[in-house]
Amino acid sequence: MEALKIADKTYWVGKVDDRKVPFHRLILERGTTYNSYLLMTEKPTIIDTVDIAFGKEYTDRLSEVIDLSLIEYVVINHVEPDHAGALPSLLAKAKNAKIVSTKLAAELLKDMFKLHQREFIEIKDGDILDIGGKTLKFIETPYLHTEETMITYSVEDQILFPCDIFSTHIANEELFNDLAKGEYIEDFKVYYQLIMSPHRPFVRDMLAKIKDLNIQMIAPSHGYILRENVQKFIDLYDKMSKLPEQGKQKEVTIVYSTMTGNTTKVAQRLAQGLKSAGVETSVFNLKSADLNEVKEKILDSDGVLIGSSTRYGDMVGNVEELLQSIGTEELKGKIGAAFGSYGWSGEAILHIEKYLHKTGASVIDQNYLIGSTGVDSPYLPIRVKFAREDALGNAEDAGRVFAELVLTK
Ligand SMILES: Cc1cc2nc3c(=O)[nH]c(=O)nc-3n(C[C@H](O)[C@H](O)[C@H](O)COP(=O)(O)O)c2cc1C
Ligand SMILES: [Fe+2]
Ligand SMILES: [Fe+2]
Repeated sequence: MEALKIADKTYWVGKVDDRKVPFHRLILERGTTYNSYLLMTEKPTIIDTVDIAFGKEYTDRLSEVIDLSLIEYVVINHVEPDHAGALPSLLAKAKNAKIVSTKLAAELLKDMFKLHQREFIEIKDGDILDIGGKTLKFIETPYLHTEETMITYSVEDQILFPCDIFSTHIANEELFNDLAKGEYIEDFKVYYQLIMSPHRPFVRDMLAKIKDLNIQMIAPSHGYILRENVQKFIDLYDKMSKLPEQGKQKEVTIVYSTMTGNTTKVAQRLAQGLKSAGVETSVFNLKSADLNEVKEKILDSDGVLIGSSTRYGDMVGNVEELLQSIGTEELKGKIGAAFGSYGWSGEAILHIEKYLHKTGASVIDQNYLIGSTGVDSPYLPIRVKFAREDALGNAEDAGRVFAELVLTK
């Protein structure tokens, strides 16, 4: 196997995949690589593996480099099978290896690869692991680009192993960016746009966390290892994750109907989330508000949140009257979502969504969020059972998610 030395006792043991690889409904025209790393310390450590399609090949080739039973740790930064896919095949031979990952990743890996019998070391943000001659530090980076992810930092060598972050989909044979034969910066940016940008606020959090690290090299899991102009790539992430200049203050209108005030609480928490993200927010209870005035406000806004509790499977109050007064396509270019308190079924929210779709607004519903961000517990539409506190807390997060969509539109 090609074990290519990238630093002291640190080797690339990955796979170059020059097929046009299908991935997240894209075809990776320039192929990709799955960069796996071996740290040949006293406690030999693997950082990430390769795609599930190459599990056996990877394991066979790795066993030419090291006796797999000597591997002490396998660090899994991210569970998607383009990196964790070779884990079962590796672990079948690396019988003594412990898996090092976040708690959430450990749960996913156990279920996905039936690893309930294996030993896991669950990492929390900032944890350190001595691998005998080197120190690894772990930084949790949730939602980059899935919830369970983390970054590994090799302290003595000042190498960042960020898995998907700072990656490029390109089947490069030359390992390092300073040896690149052709243009790749565009591909680096496109990768950011496709994979990372839906999680923009988390990119900001990640950048803040790595700010004080000395980073000599970024060794991601796809494409070039960045050792020339390292700061330039961090700066690119910084630049691309900044909010676009806001021409005018963004505004969101929240309108709702309620029977006993539970939906009012939801509306208030949504408003808190929106305001904390810097979006101007007006809130109307339709019991007392003037329909025409509310409609005017909606037409002036960048986004609209419409809420109702559920009464016998339907909306309450005059929220339907308001929705009926909005013409087809009249809210084109705006962002909309439904919300409401409910008891056991919560149909009102679905009825509101149907109307919103007709208005031409981009409706932020569950399908939209799963499809665009890949998260499995989307916050919108926000459905709150009665006025339970945990769900109200989600409403505040939903306000921030909605604000993000409005601010980046
Ligand atoms: C007469 C009545 C009918 C209801 N029907 C439903 C229903 O069909 N589905 C449901 O999920 N909840 C139903 N609920 C529960 C309410 O939606 C729930 O209590 C909700 O928290 C009320 O929110 P509000 O205070 O904003 O009106 C019903 C409640 C009442 C009083
Ligand atoms: Fe991924
Ligand atoms: Fe990946």
